[in-house]
Parts: sequence; C-alpha cells; structure tokens
Amino acid sequence: MNLNELMLGCRTYRRFLQEKVPEEVIREALENARIGSNGANLQPLTYYAVTSEEKVKQMQPLLKWAKALPPELGTPKEGEQPTAFIVMVKKANAIAFADVDVGIAAHTIALTAWSHGIGSCLLGSINIPKIRELLGVPEEDQIRLVIALGKPSHTSTIVPVGADGKTDYYLDEERNYYVPKRAFDDVVTFV
Ligand SMILES: Cc1cc2nc3c(=O)[nH]c(=O)nc-3n(C[C@H](O)[C@H](O)[C@H](O)COP(=O)(O)O)c2cc1C
Repeated sequence: MNLNELMLGCRTYRRFLQEKVPEEVIREALENARIGSNGANLQPLTYYAVTSEEKVKQMQPLLKWAKALPPELGTPKEGEQPTAFIVMVKKANAIAFADVDVGIAAHTIALTAWSHGIGSCLLGSINIPKIRELLGVPEEDQIRLVIALGKPSHTSTIVPVGADGKTDYYLDEERNYYVPKRAFDDVVTFV
C-alpha cells in the first residue's frame, strides 16, 4: 500500500469486530509516535495504552461518538465497541505547539494501526475527569485525546462535498459511512 492508499483507507471507524488488537500493533504505533517530529523536540506527550478487558470496558461510557449522527446510529453498541484505546496526555507546562504535536502523533498512530488493518477513531469529546481517575493520570497533566482502536466492521468512503456545501458525514442503510471532503482546488492555491 502506498501512502495515498493508506490515507484513503485511514478513515474514522466507529464499529468494530470484537477481536483483540495485537499488542505489537499498539507498540509499533506508539513507537512511531514517540520518534515523530515535535515542537523544539521537547517531547511533551505521554501515552496510556488501555488494553486490559476491564479497563477497556470502563472506558466505553466515557466517550461521545459521532456528533453529526443520532446516538442510536453513531454510538457503538455492545458487541460493536472498540477493543483498545490509547489516551494521549500533554505534560504540565507544555508550550502552545504541543497541541500540534498531539495532532501529528495521533495521526501517526492512526496510520500505523491502519497499515495493519486496525481502524481508529480520534475522540476529543471525552469525560476527562473520569478518564483521569480511571487511569491515574496526574492532576497537573492534560488529557488531550483518546484514540479508539479495533478491526472495523463497517466501511467508510470519501465522497465529494455536494452543491449544498455540507460536510456532515452520513450513513447508508447498513450504517456504512460516507465522508464528504472538499475538492482539491477549493483548498489548495499554488502561487
Ligand atoms: C481532533 C479530532 C477530534 C475528534 N473527536 C471526535 C469525537 O469526539 N467523537 C467522534 O465520534 N469522532 C471524533 N472525531 C472524528 C471526526 O469526526 C472525523 O475525523 C471526521 O468526521 C472526518 O472523518 P474521517 O476521519 O473518516 O476523514 C475527531 C477527529 C479529530 C481529528
């Protein structure tokens, strides 16, 4: 798979087969994130890999899924939920660029996982106090993002943004996703 093919497939997935994510995949994803570029090489990020059955279960109610959809369609039900999580944490007194670092590392993790057929969903709508308590994240550190992981049980396809300009993703009757992306010439200017 070349990088463009990897990027095309590396969509957001919100329903998963109930199979364990191989630990080697999680380790490789975190290793790639660890060695990635970051502002001033300050390396302000730490990661919690949530893989135990008990903790994975406890994470499920602490996440908000698919803002564009009614919960009965967008929220994974039991038997569809992710089977591992990575919680991304920004150290206390990190510089402003650290949020760029979060984005770079998050997509590095998503791409590495997808290169092994493991889908992901980056989640920013999360119950931070409860996740902090569950994982024992120090009070001074900032929980920034959760990455849900698992083998997807649906497809997701990029489609052009329609004449109405709407970018909300939508589902077909099998709850497969369609994700409108703006056209190349609408977002790129060569000067
Ligand atoms: C920073 C960030 C935060 C996100 N937070 C959530 C979230 O809380 N819940 C959710 O279901 N999806 C979340 N998403 C997934 C987006 O909805 C998704 O990336 C977008 O709809 C485009 O779909 P695609 O990733 O397949 O291109 C988030 C994505 C990013 C990059």
